[in-house]
Amino acid sequence: MTDPTEPLIRHISDTARWAAVYRARETERPGALFHDPYARRLAGERGEEIAAALPFHQKNEWAWVMRTVLFDQFIVEQIRQGVDMVVNLAAGLDARPYRMALPASLRWIEVDLPEILEYKEEMLKDERPACALQRVRLDLADAAARRELLSSLDGLATKVLVVTEGLVIYLTAEQVGALAEDLARQRTFQRWLLDIASPGLLRMIEKNTSSQFGADVTTLKFAPAEGPDFFARHGWYPLEVRTPLKEAARRKRLPLHMRLMAAVIPETAPRRGSRPWSGICLLAKAGAPGTVGTSGAEETPGTAETAGRTGSAP
Ligand SMILES: C[S@@+](CC[C@H](N)C(=O)[O-])C[C@H]1O[C@@H](n2cnc3c(N)ncnc32)[C@H](O)[C@@H]1O
Repeated sequence: MTDPTEPLIRHISDTARWAAVYRARETERPGALFHDPYARRLAGERGEEIAAALPFHQKNEWAWVMRTVLFDQFIVEQIRQGVDMVVNLAAGLDARPYRMALPASLRWIEVDLPEILEYKEEMLKDERPACALQRVRLDLADAAARRELLSSLDGLATKVLVVTEGLVIYLTAEQVGALAEDLARQRTFQRWLLDIASPGLLRMIEKNTSSQFGADVTTLKFAPAEGPDFFARHGWYPLEVRTPLKEAARRKRLPLHMRLMAAVIPETAPRRGSRPWSGICLLAKAGAPGTVGTSGAEETPGTAETAGRTGSAP
């Protein structure tokens, strides 16, 4: 029985159970935008308990759902464009290798802390992934071990997509910069898909979530005022940025007051800083094939959006 006076997120990996809840709920609703038949099992009762204690996030479930929708879209498109290995750092309870129609030859590496991966393996032991899946138990904060892993992965494929979904918000800017540089150093690591929040959104999430974060759990930290351009000085450039808010509006998943906000936000004018904003960012490595020089990409960000302002999935 959970002590009601205790925060529910006692270990950073509890956030993986929390994230899985929104995939389970979406899967179970009529007209679901994706189906993750493993999410309910993986989230477990504890995931539901955490989600139930955070009404702000219940109200903004659309942000979690759109994050999954947009990550799925980017991943599918990147595989179509020749990615032959996905490295999912802080994979948590993500079940994409099982639920997505992926090429059998695709290599997929999941990295996370040992405890959550033990749990995941036990829960999925009777399931078969669609692609060649490998799991690595590693503390990504251990810079030496991280570098050793990344360099061992470089060379196993020709074009690697790194995915960090719901990770960087828990790191300091220095840690994110160091991670970016470690990734950029790997020759075959050409794309990086991640989500970021503005300082305004970080404050909003923190205010509505911190009561459930235990003292030992890393609090929310990374929210660069300059948005995706933060990564330019660490070797990565934004190719395309999509905002969960705009996507939710398009998919008619916003409450009325948010719909009005989404409608008046211009498609491409960035508004970050103190305004709540989140973006799902596809980055390209400077000098990687498909990019031009050091300042950007030759792939035209035709559907790029840098204007949406809210989204609340950490
Ligand atoms: C919000 S969850 C996101 C999980 C998954 N990517 C998703 O979107 O459902 C954050 C994940 O980061 C992992 N994580 C946090 N710090 C980590 C570290 N130092 N090393 C490895 N994994 C870490 C946690 O264990 C957890 O699974």
